[in-house]
Amino acid sequence: MIVRYIFDMKIIRTVKRICGGIIRGSFRGIFRFLRRRKFLSVLLLLSCLLVYSMVEPHMVSIDTLRFSHPDIPKVFDGFKIAFISDIHAGKYYSRTRLEGLVQRINEIAPDLVLLGGDFVHGDSESIPWCFAALSGLEAPSGVMGVLGNHDNWAGGALVKKAMRDNGIFVLDNTSVWVYRQDDRIKIGGVADLQTDFQDLKETTADLETGDFALLVSHNPDFADTLTNDKIDLMLSGHTHGGQLTFFGLYAPVLPTASGQKYRSGLVRAEHTSVYISRGIGTITPPLRFFAPPEISVIVLQTEEN
Ligand SMILES: [Fe+2]
Repeated sequence: MIVRYIFDMKIIRTVKRICGGIIRGSFRGIFRFLRRRKFLSVLLLLSCLLVYSMVEPHMVSIDTLRFSHPDIPKVFDGFKIAFISDIHAGKYYSRTRLEGLVQRINEIAPDLVLLGGDFVHGDSESIPWCFAALSGLEAPSGVMGVLGNHDNWAGGALVKKAMRDNGIFVLDNTSVWVYRQDDRIKIGGVADLQTDFQDLKETTADLETGDFALLVSHNPDFADTLTNDKIDLMLSGHTHGGQLTFFGLYAPVLPTASGQKYRSGLVRAEHTSVYISRGIGTITPPLRFFAPPEISVIVLQTEEN
């Protein structure tokens, strides 16, 4: 009887050991499985974000800004300016893409095309084909623009020559009056803040009270150097809208001295309004995240409209 009891207890202990082992093993297996699933989920999410950031540079949006100001003459009501910046033509932005972009801008039928610099990226090789493609831009009041830091690094003199050879007016430290009937607006430009010197006198010297003046400066930080209210609107690029942002809310890397202030869109500086385009192309890495490329369309409106 005792022997039988001891034998039964041994069996029960053995079964308990086996069951316990199975349960413990199962829990370990489940935890291992969950850990692997978590890792796979994170990997999948990161892959999706990477693929999206590779696609976003191709998602060019057309952003329209209706800009009202009391100095805009009535005949300029509805005057349409297409503004693009930071093409970065070269290894990350091909001639085919640029030709497609030019076609898209022409379809907008702008009155004037303004270019915000950083036409090329890297060496000077892309300069000839970049401006050959841009020569296809059509606007009755002309095509004009300033250089950016990357243009000066690639060869500022070559870029200026290519602009002139392809019918693009160089706005660096100069200006033009654009006429409609008997009224006019001033379109000026300054050379790049980082790689050149700036002279605003050519734009402001003959301005009278009540004239509407628009300035193109590659770098938006130039707005903070203004000491009076003569410039009514400034157009800039340079920031790429942060290029890689935290869901459009914050950009960890911005090439400006003003933090997030001039990341993108319309910003009020002390002496002027600044519109900062997110640009067209990219620098390294050739990715964008919640900062899609843009063609800006600025429609001038007289104050009462
Ligand atoms: Fe740029």
